[in-house]
Amino acid sequence: VVASGTYADRFGGQLVLVTGAAGGIGRATAFAFAEAGARIIAVDRDAEGAARTADMSRLIGAPQAWAEVVDVSDETAMEKLADKVHTEYGTVDVLVNNAGIGLSGSFLQTGTEDWKKVLDVNLWGVIHGCRIFGKRMAERGQGGHIVNTASAAAFLPSKTLPAYSTSKAAVLMLSECLRAELAGQGIGVSAICPGIINTGITSTARFAGVSADEEKRRQTKAARMYGLRNYPPEKVADAILRAVVRNQAVVPVTPEAHGAHLLS
Ligand code: NAI
Repeated sequence: VVASGTYADRFGGQLVLVTGAAGGIGRATAFAFAEAGARIIAVDRDAEGAARTADMSRLIGAPQAWAEVVDVSDETAMEKLADKVHTEYGTVDVLVNNAGIGLSGSFLQTGTEDWKKVLDVNLWGVIHGCRIFGKRMAERGQGGHIVNTASAAAFLPSKTLPAYSTSKAAVLMLSECLRAELAGQGIGVSAICPGIINTGITSTARFAGVSADEEKRRQTKAARMYGLRNYPPEKVADAILRAVVRNQAVVPVTPEAHGAHLLS
């Protein structure tokens, strides 16, 4: 399934880099940009998944698509990626910092290592992407757009997702700060805030302070609950393309995120 096709050829000739591109939302986003004519760089730490996204992107309509295996929380690896992209593919026009991991558990049960893991990927991964690729966009002087995948969790205090929600609230704020900084240079920055989307994140989400068996049970339960809500990742991909075209700042996706946005 690909996104609506509303933006046919709208991104023709543009270079779009998506992180977390092997996952549900990242893959749907790569496909939507591919359908809109963009060249795609699919970045993920999952090599096979990233390669599959790149292959499918070409089939869907991307003139070119590449897979790059990178851990977004590794600053040196991100610098190397930016050098390679700049030398071999060109300057990125649209960057989608989307890679993220889930972690459930009460505040008191969540240990330092678990906090670090979540912040390393969800926050530092986004910071590295914004700074390293944003600098190059600014130096080129031809504008561009950065999209960061935050979450409705960024607005909603939660007893079960303190580390995740904190990481996403930080992504929201850094997006707003960078948006203000880059506005004068024709570079837009958007924070996308989906609610519950049916992707693989539930089966990989960690649960702090419980046994492995209990973690598996909760993952299965979360997957069932997410499946029932049934918002597909294509809904987020559509919102991301729209955010770039309309240069939207904060974009709630799905009803619970709208509610959360109104509360904020
Ligand atoms: P997913 O688990 O299907 O995809 C996440 C992808 O990120 C995976 O392919 C994974 O390999 C990759 N990844 C994780 N850590 C990485 C790292 N250090 N370096 C490179 N790649 C890494 O999950 P989904 O749902 O597609 O999530 C995408 C983004 O959307 C995440 O930031 C998530 O927090 C956010 N989000 C998801 C929601 C949902 O309900 N599924 C709701 C709101 C936000």
